[in-house]
This record gives sequence, C-alpha cells and structure tokens, in this order.
Amino acid sequence: MKDYKIAPSILSADFSRLGEDVKKVVDAGADFIHFDVMDNHYVPNLTIGPLVCSALRSFGIKNIIDVHLMIKPVDRIIPDFAKAGANIITFHPEGSDHIDRSLSLVRDSGCKSGLVFNPATPLEYLDHVMDKIDMVLLMSVNPGFGGQKFIKETLNKLRMARKKIDAYTKETGREIWLEVDGGVNADNITEIAQAGADTFVAGSAIFGAANDDDPNRYDTVVKSLRASLSKA
Ligand code: DX5
Ligand code: ZN
Repeated sequence: MKDYKIAPSILSADFSRLGEDVKKVVDAGADFIHFDVMDNHYVPNLTIGPLVCSALRSFGIKNIIDVHLMIKPVDRIIPDFAKAGANIITFHPEGSDHIDRSLSLVRDSGCKSGLVFNPATPLEYLDHVMDKIDMVLLMSVNPGFGGQKFIKETLNKLRMARKKIDAYTKETGREIWLEVDGGVNADNITEIAQAGADTFVAGSAIFGAANDDDPNRYDTVVKSLRASLSKA
C-alpha cells in the first residue's frame, strides 16, 4: 500500500480538552495533526492561533503539525507559527500579495511549505513555484467550516494535480505531498486516493465518530479509514 497519511482536523475536536483529545487521536493512529487557522476576514469564521499550537507541543504532541492558514495577509504570522512548533505551513494564494515571497518565508522559518486551492482556484498558481512547494492542498469544500459535503469535481482536479506533481518528481526526484481537505470520510476516501491524494484531512468524520469502548476513542474510525485506503 502507498504511504497514505491521515490528518485529523482539530477544528472538530473538543476544544475544552484539546490536548487530551489530540493525544487520543494520535494514539489511535493518526499521522499528521491538521491545524485550521481562520481570521473572520479571508473566511467567515474565527479559530485558533500560534498559542494553541505551542500549547499542544507543551502538552507533549510530537506528530507533524500541518498548519492550514485561512487568513489574509499571511506573512506577519508565519514565523510565529514556526516558533510555535508547526512543521508544515500552507496558505491560499488569495491570502498573499507575493506568493513566491510568502513560500520562501515559510521555508526560511524552517517549515515545509504549501499552497491551498479553493474549489474554483486554478492549479496554474503552481507553475512557477514548484521548487518552493512541499505540499499541494486541494480544498474539497469552500473553506471556513467543518462538516460540509465533499465537492465531486475535486476528483478531476486531484487527477490534474497528481499529473503535475508526478511530472515534477520525475524531472527532479523531489516529492511533493498531495493533500485533500473537506468532507472526507470512510465512504469516499477510496476514490479520493484513487484520484491521486496521499494525505487526507478529516475533521467531523473522525472527531464525530468517537467510541468510548475504544482504548483511544478514535481507534475504530481511524481503522475504518485505513481499511478503505487499503482498497485504493
Ligand atoms: C475547512 C477546514 C477543514 C475542515 C474539514 O475550512 O479547512 O480542515 O475542518 O472538516 P470536515 O472533515 O468535517 O469537512
Ligand atoms: Zn483545513
């Protein structure tokens, strides 16, 4: 099986006991922790910042923290997230006036960098910055809220992104992750993987399926996502 990564979005976690909930999902077998940052400006919702990221590190979370910035502008806060323990920082091209500069800033801060594409944002933003990108993130919902329905057209866009990435990897030997975010669950993750994704964000599908009989509340749901991935 390919090296698939599951990235629970903590947007749907229990914020009143975030550290414990994240530790449980990690112990249940999650790979990355997907960290959704919203500013009530670029998207119509407001969430969490660097303080919460460093609090998770102090609590003992060691996994890769994948920070998804849904904010505008992005540059001021990028170094703060790097200092707070982020490993990957992705942002939307619409959130930066100087995309190449913001990508370099992420790398210079010591993190892996990536661009995020809304459902209607064209992939051409990749064309002149592939060398500065470690992750491509395709939104399969419009950003701002958890619990929305997967937009099917994303499957076509994933195939297009996969082609671009594979061509780049063939030429340079350097790998780029292809992540999908929004409405992912055990029923659709197989076809999403078949379309080319290797990293899967899931918020409500994971945190909404807690099972108190599981040793770590989320073992059953993480296992069922992996079982669906094994069919891809
Ligand atoms: C949406 C966020 C997503 C969201 C995913 O703007 O970027 O990460 O939390 O949640 P689900 O999996 O519930 O669609
Ligand atoms: Zn996200």
